[in-house]
Amino acid sequence: MFDWNFPFWIAHRGAGKLAPENTLAAFRLGSQHGYRAFECDVKLSRDGELFLLHDATLSRTTNLRERLGDGASPEAAAHDWTQLAQLDAGAWHSRAYAGEPLPRLEAIVRYAQANGARLNLEIKPIPGMGAATGKAVAAYCAKHFADSADLPLLSSFTVESLAAARDETPHIPRGLLIDTWRDTWLAEAGQLKCAAIILNYSLWSAERVTAAHAAGFKCLSYTVNDESVAQWLIALGTDGIITDRVDLFSPAG
Ligand code: G3P
Ligand code: MG
Repeated sequence: MFDWNFPFWIAHRGAGKLAPENTLAAFRLGSQHGYRAFECDVKLSRDGELFLLHDATLSRTTNLRERLGDGASPEAAAHDWTQLAQLDAGAWHSRAYAGEPLPRLEAIVRYAQANGARLNLEIKPIPGMGAATGKAVAAYCAKHFADSADLPLLSSFTVESLAAARDETPHIPRGLLIDTWRDTWLAEAGQLKCAAIILNYSLWSAERVTAAHAAGFKCLSYTVNDESVAQWLIALGTDGIITDRVDLFSPAG
């Protein structure tokens, strides 16, 4: 169903830990290290804006308290985009990135399209917004990616997000993320009409790669930061690696 043309090496959250995760600055740094494919975490704000953030709360990666006061809720779900857009999402990482904002998905898509980069958009919904977020990400991508050759890969741990994306845009490839083993993996990926299965790397084995390939799925891994693990996954014949270590692994091979 899908023509798979996604790069093997994918920079996790933009540039791993070298820049503030899920910011445009991280994408720029990942690009400087030669990366042409990027994973990032996408949420839908309560008032309908798609933006990048990993955690359910804003505490770890923004200056929430400093900017909005001690009484501000740490939950991302408690804020509209006008409030989220005021936050500094770079200063927590290092002085060099102070002032870096939370990006809207729109900014990331514009950057990727201007620079020929591919996106793995992980749908990471605010709790209770799984289907709405999957549908919104898929609809946004259907509108903004006209060329089938550079479609993003939509992935999620949240089955209802992938189901909503499948129903909204069957033609945009999907990847089922799995962190803890379950025997229903191939059946779930089949029901969701996925192109890929993206496992915590430690869950792969030669038998599972064979089974996934036989069922028509590409085999990807996260988050691989060790040279020997990467070599093992390459020897297994897997199809993609998501890494923090953009400084260690060269996507040029
Ligand atoms: O998409 C792969 C990986 O990002 C999944 O885990 O927690 O880093 O979003 P997490
Ligand atoms: Mg992620």
